[in-house]
Amino acid sequence: MSDSVGQVIAISNQKGGVGKTTTAVNLAASLAVAEQKTLLIDMDPQANATQGCGFQNGNEVEGGNVYHTLIGQKEPKEVILQTKISYLSLIPSHINLTGAEVEMVNMIAREQKLDGLLNQVKKDYSYIILDCPPSLGLLTINALTAADSVLIPIQCEYYALEGLGKLLNTVRQIQRHLNPKLQIAGVLLTMFDGRLNLSRQVASEVKSYFGNKVYKTSISRNVRLAEAPSHGQPIVLYDILSQGSQDYMSLAGEVINNG
Ligand SMILES: Nc1ncnc2c1ncn2[C@@H]1O[C@H](COP(=O)(O)OP(=O)(O)O)[C@@H](O)[C@H]1O
Ligand SMILES: [Mg+2]
Repeated sequence: MSDSVGQVIAISNQKGGVGKTTTAVNLAASLAVAEQKTLLIDMDPQANATQGCGFQNGNEVEGGNVYHTLIGQKEPKEVILQTKISYLSLIPSHINLTGAEVEMVNMIAREQKLDGLLNQVKKDYSYIILDCPPSLGLLTINALTAADSVLIPIQCEYYALEGLGKLLNTVRQIQRHLNPKLQIAGVLLTMFDGRLNLSRQVASEVKSYFGNKVYKTSISRNVRLAEAPSHGQPIVLYDILSQGSQDYMSLAGEVINNG
């Protein structure tokens, strides 16, 4: 491997249920299947990405997760777990991460904690994918401050663009004050159903707003993607031939080619 360091991509949108976690887990797994060493970091106290990789809240996760690293109790390397996919590692989350936002409030450089931690492990990976919580609080700010770019999933539903102004404004604030290198990696249409007028309308609205920032790949609505987490498997393990698996492999290809 060359001495290039990992690209950090935050998956963010403060709206819940738009496909952030599904994208974080399955993009990370698809990059790994393409033999890119990838670290997925679960930044959401709900720990859905952790569960989606097959880890439940057992001792392993409870005693060592992203919370302990953010408050300075553990080194990132102490809490990294190997997943069932050989090129994919995970820093898990736990409900105790909710406390981190409160505990970090009085810390110096509280917005830069994750950035500092990632600098210790970046050289070991080609990609670091951050699954953000559905808010623009301190955990998301840490993710955006540590990231090279942000990938914004947009669900093809009513009110898809609602609230995006606030997210884009947060991105601009972070570019100005905390992380000048932060870019928009791209906007990803999720839960797309080409048979529905609504899906097609939202897609064309998003494209006219974001232009060439929209990924060519859109993620179809696919029941296998919704089933996979309950089996603790990314889609490439659960059903590699499904449409969902093909969509995320195609997205991974775009991410790799965009450099
Ligand atoms: N392309 C898709 N097809 C079908 N179901 C999906 C798809 N993407 C996400 N889902 C389901 O929608 C719900 C919300 O997705 P999730 O990724 O958890 O969103 P977020 O992390 O933004 O809250 C989950 O139940 C997930 O399984
Ligand atoms: Mg989520």
